[in-house]
Amino acid sequence: MSNQDELLRIEGIRKAFPGVIALDGVDFDLRRGEVHVLLGENGAGKSTLIKMLSGAYTPDGGRILAGGEEVRIHGAQDSERLGIATIYQEFNLVPDLTVAENIFLGRQPRRLGMIDRKRMEADAAVLLERVGVNVSPRARVRELGIARLQMVEIAKALSLNTRVLIMDEPTAVLTSEEVEKLFSIVRRLREDGVGIVFITHHLEEIAALGDRVMVIRDGRSVGQVPADTSEDELVRLMVGRSIEQQYPRERASAEAGAAAALLTVEGLTRDGVFHDVTFEVHAGEVVGIAGLVGAGRTEVVRAVFGADPYDKGAVKVFGASVPKDDVNAAMGAGIGLIPEDRKGQGLVLDASVEENLGLVTMRSATRGGLVDLKGQRAAAARIAEQLGVRMAGLGQHVRTLSGGNQQKVVIGKWLLAETKVLILDEPTRGIDVGAKVEIYQLINELTAAGAAVLMISSDLPEVLGMSDRVLVMAQGRIAGELSADEATQDAVMALAVSNPPTTEPEAGRGR
Ligand SMILES: Nc1ncnc2c1ncn2[C@@H]1O[C@H](COP(=O)(O)OP(=O)(O)OP(=O)(O)O)[C@@H](O)[C@H]1O
Ligand SMILES: [Mg+2]
Repeated sequence: MSNQDELLRIEGIRKAFPGVIALDGVDFDLRRGEVHVLLGENGAGKSTLIKMLSGAYTPDGGRILAGGEEVRIHGAQDSERLGIATIYQEFNLVPDLTVAENIFLGRQPRRLGMIDRKRMEADAAVLLERVGVNVSPRARVRELGIARLQMVEIAKALSLNTRVLIMDEPTAVLTSEEVEKLFSIVRRLREDGVGIVFITHHLEEIAALGDRVMVIRDGRSVGQVPADTSEDELVRLMVGRSIEQQYPRERASAEAGAAAALLTVEGLTRDGVFHDVTFEVHAGEVVGIAGLVGAGRTEVVRAVFGADPYDKGAVKVFGASVPKDDVNAAMGAGIGLIPEDRKGQGLVLDASVEENLGLVTMRSATRGGLVDLKGQRAAAARIAEQLGVRMAGLGQHVRTLSGGNQQKVVIGKWLLAETKVLILDEPTRGIDVGAKVEIYQLINELTAAGAAVLMISSDLPEVLGMSDRVLVMAQGRIAGELSADEATQDAVMALAVSNPPTTEPEAGRGR
């Protein structure tokens, strides 16, 4: 490699927060025209590292060099001047502005002292075209889905003459089709000589897109390996041990399948959204719901949980009807939902880990007029330990936890609540490979104790690996049901893209 190819070099970077050393002497470098993947467990320090480059944090020690010269990055402007653009784990767009306004925020082209709207929109159109996304520069950002938001962020990055593009878990929220699209954009940028820093927990993406991988563990660089390194080896570097079984599901016994239904959903319909959705989940079972994005999966489980109303049908727990559109009634009946949008619906960011973990139990505990604070603290400590939540202590505010550790707290909260019917919507999104296995083991414990689990996941290997039965939804209907033995990727996909009949073929869908 000639020195001219080196865009950035980080040497011995250190950063401490109260109670945690987030980075303890990390080295990293980036060349022109490469995708350098940052890999590490939740809380390893990946986001903190890239925030040193974007100017969000300043290092406590160590050096950053750009083109061989030491630089100081004390804010977004410094970073921008160096040609560095960052797409964060959480997006940074302003929902009420248009796409073009977001792209040129703070640097709108002007003419005679006025913002030159025409030119701004025309320039935005060129950038959007370069990214290959079909969205109007005049559309409001709040109307766009996540994939398109991301494309707008990339267009914005391109407008800044970016030489370094940093992407923090861009694929965590994308469907497989969208991931392909993103990859083709990233490959094109790489050909143009842009250096890309790419963070992901999906190991299969590394071989598909990456050139080099840098593994961080506990704030230290543990190794720099080529992207075609085997997944087993990557896991070993990342978590310090190998993982024997990625999906440790202990299948429900035959008796569980024959037992009375714990959750019964009958003919659930919300006009224009989902239709005649009927299924049962038995005690001790994990039932997966697969389907394409937009098939209506999240909408159905939100209705079951009482978070949204429905027009027809019934939800029952142990045969007793649960009133509709009433979350408290659903929770009272023993239903819990770990939502897809955990930031928005699952956490109080400015409360502590302990308070967040206690949110659900608190509710049931205070019903009797008493809160067992000591017991609650012990339970919170146990679940945090089991899930390996990386934190300075139970008193740390959830806002300052790493993305994956925030997810673990939401999951822990519901696991603590000892719900009878636990619904998980994309449970392992943003969770590292080691912590995933811990979550699966907790699911096993729940079902062994007689709970029923309903799990939506777009990660097919996860659905297939963890479910005792798989329901496949397409266009707001249940297109079919597969037993664990029948459920293969092909069988699920065939149903997911099918056109389910608009009337029920027979009463009482068989199991
Ligand atoms: N502002 C902050 N205040 C206190 N601690 C922080 C702050 N920002 C990060 N940390 C801590 O620094 C550590 C590293 O966090 P970081 O967000 O870099 O992890 P990550 O590797 O990106 O993890 P994930 O895969 O979960 O996103 C964590 O222990 C986190 O709690
Ligand atoms: Mg992170």
